[in-house]
Amino acid sequence: MLKINLKKTSFKETKADLALVFVINKNFKHAWIEPKILKEFAYEGEGIFFDQFNKIIYIGVESLDIDIFREASTQALRFIKKLPFKSLKIGIYGNEEMMEGIFLGLLVGMYDFNQYKSKKIIPALKEIFVSYESFDKKTPPSLQVLQKSLDKALILAQSIILVRDAINTPPEEATPMFLAQLAQKIAKENSLECHIGDEKFLKKEKMGAFLAVNRASVHPPRLIHLIYKTKKPKARFVLVGKGLTYDSGGLSLKPADYMVTMKADKSGGCAVLGIIDALAKMKIDAEIHAIVGATENMIGGNAYKPDDILLSREGKSIEVRNTDAEGRLVLADCLSYAQDLKPDYLIDFATLTGACVVGLGEYTSGVMGHNEELKTHFENMALKSGELATKLTFNRHLKKLIESKIADVCNVASSRYGGAITAGMFLSEFIRKEYKDKWLHIDIAGPAYVEREWDINTYGGSGAGVRACVEFVLDIIKKD
Ligand code: BES
Ligand code: ZN
Ligand code: ZN
Repeated sequence: MLKINLKKTSFKETKADLALVFVINKNFKHAWIEPKILKEFAYEGEGIFFDQFNKIIYIGVESLDIDIFREASTQALRFIKKLPFKSLKIGIYGNEEMMEGIFLGLLVGMYDFNQYKSKKIIPALKEIFVSYESFDKKTPPSLQVLQKSLDKALILAQSIILVRDAINTPPEEATPMFLAQLAQKIAKENSLECHIGDEKFLKKEKMGAFLAVNRASVHPPRLIHLIYKTKKPKARFVLVGKGLTYDSGGLSLKPADYMVTMKADKSGGCAVLGIIDALAKMKIDAEIHAIVGATENMIGGNAYKPDDILLSREGKSIEVRNTDAEGRLVLADCLSYAQDLKPDYLIDFATLTGACVVGLGEYTSGVMGHNEELKTHFENMALKSGELATKLTFNRHLKKLIESKIADVCNVASSRYGGAITAGMFLSEFIRKEYKDKWLHIDIAGPAYVEREWDINTYGGSGAGVRACVEFVLDIIKKD
């Protein structure tokens, strides 16, 4: 990880091989800009400009906005890491929240998934110095406050990178057992309790839906359960993640083009591992449970079939009409297990439906549930954290579409429209009355995996859900 050091020196006094300067809205009235020089180079304040003589990188940003600065920081870092400089200096822009955004953008900008490249390009950049001077000559936040922003950004970046690495690991390596080992590693590092349930455990728990999805896989399933405890918890959060280490669609096989990227169907599971890792490192005053339903969805002679009827842990029977709607089956049993833990907040993260991507686009997560206030709160905290999320509303007409003539519920809707919501309503069938208002379902199918880089995300897993959930939990704890 890149080292970021807060200095007490002014921008000029701070020593580094290279400087990074943000040009806001093409305005050259800025403490460290000499407009004359930039005019000579005909740089107007748009895009990136490298003044090689003075060793300054300029990057144009539209406004003094956290989201814009976070993204620009990542872009600048992507440019800088290709250059042969070991250290970089920046100054202060805005308040501590803005600086947190800049730190996070810089830290994740270093990320590349290159484990499988035989020729690895190792960036020369090792250190960033933050001078104690604001671009507009205003008094910066105190060093103590800045250090807090830096600490938070460091924890978030580390967790996001952990999640990205796990998602990007190819499916033959990243099996349910691999995820269990990763969970054990996280547990050891943060002194968490760790329970790994195998096939025998799932049978004992009567998780008929989860087990059916796993049947044709040569890799055994795992139910991962991590617990973070603290002396005086203000609330108990139970987080559940869809951990499909590969989703071929099963017998309702996906077309070839749609199967590629389905290693990322474990993104929800990886996200909850990242979230508990971050919250434990922040030593928050809440009890956190992270549960991952890890399995593959494959084909074979013993595969579960369309027409099968499964018995879930909650005792509800499920008619299978499409084996590609497997995530909701795994989640149904995991959510049942999760409710036994008596959560104050129950949140699941899943790459659940292609329909959510069609409806909201690739950048936005869908927030579902029965509690308006809770949904709005999560949406707001997601936006504050720099993630995009929006509410999708259940209704009684869509509920009818998942009725079954021969079982308690059907795993797919009778209409292809509204697929993200009908999937959410299917999950709701497994939420007990007393937990309906405590539950949120976050469909991260859009932003979880990135094929064209955007914002602070590079090609591959993004870590969607981590920042949003951490911000949500921190905000709830702060209020209590
Ligand atoms: N894992 C997929 C959803 C998905 C699709 C995630 C694209 C990310 C990108 C899920 O298991 C699935 O296949 N869902 C089906 C449901 C359908 C059969 C009702 C879908 O969305 O097509
Ligand atoms: Zn599927
Ligand atoms: Zn899936």
